[in-house]
Amino acid sequence: NIKGFAFDLDGVIADTARFHGQAWHQTADEVGTVWTDELAENLKGISRMDSLELILNAGGYGQKYTTAQKETLATQKNDKYLELIKTLTPADILPGMKKFLDELKDQQYHLSVASASKNAPTILKQLKLTDYFDGIVDPATLHAGKPDPEIFVKAAEVMGLDPVNVAGLEDSSAGITSINSAGELSIGIGSQLNEAKIKFAVTDEVSLVAIKTQLIG
Ligand code: BG6
Ligand code: MG
Repeated sequence: NIKGFAFDLDGVIADTARFHGQAWHQTADEVGTVWTDELAENLKGISRMDSLELILNAGGYGQKYTTAQKETLATQKNDKYLELIKTLTPADILPGMKKFLDELKDQQYHLSVASASKNAPTILKQLKLTDYFDGIVDPATLHAGKPDPEIFVKAAEVMGLDPVNVAGLEDSSAGITSINSAGELSIGIGSQLNEAKIKFAVTDEVSLVAIKTQLIG
């Protein structure tokens, strides 16, 4: 019995996953790591510093940089990302998601945001969606990021719900693992999410009826 939905933001609500990719691609070029589709996919849902570590390790540069140098690289990536999202407007809400959020609101479901991004509050404001949500999990408070269940457990708490009554929406493999480990119903959007209980190819297909159909089917 689902009473609330915990939303990932980048690549689920906002068309911003490509901007994270673009900015990290630049970091990879700078440190000398070859940028591949697989690396891009593996970075989805992963926190800023963990993403940087993945990029450095992929090139065999895990030991090459000091903590201070890593902080600089991460800041440069975020500055680039902030530049890319500066002009974000409600038109950058992914297809069908505004309609889905309205449907959930109308039917009095609880809503929360479970994004690894420290930029999530800014983006929600730019998309004019802040008021839809009971709350946003602050990723700075987490002991471990996705795929750890903590962020989706906290997203249930924000809504005052037990995880068994929560569905989580994700476009990343790490996020689906997080939802499943939290004991919630996982809804995957994208092509490489085999572990998701419910699957959609694109955001446009997501609706309460479509979710129920897959649950029964
Ligand atoms: C996730 C994105 O939502 O947030 C990742 O999928 C990103 O690509 C992560 O690295 C952290 O974002 P930020 O904005 O705090 O650097
Ligand atoms: Mg995402």
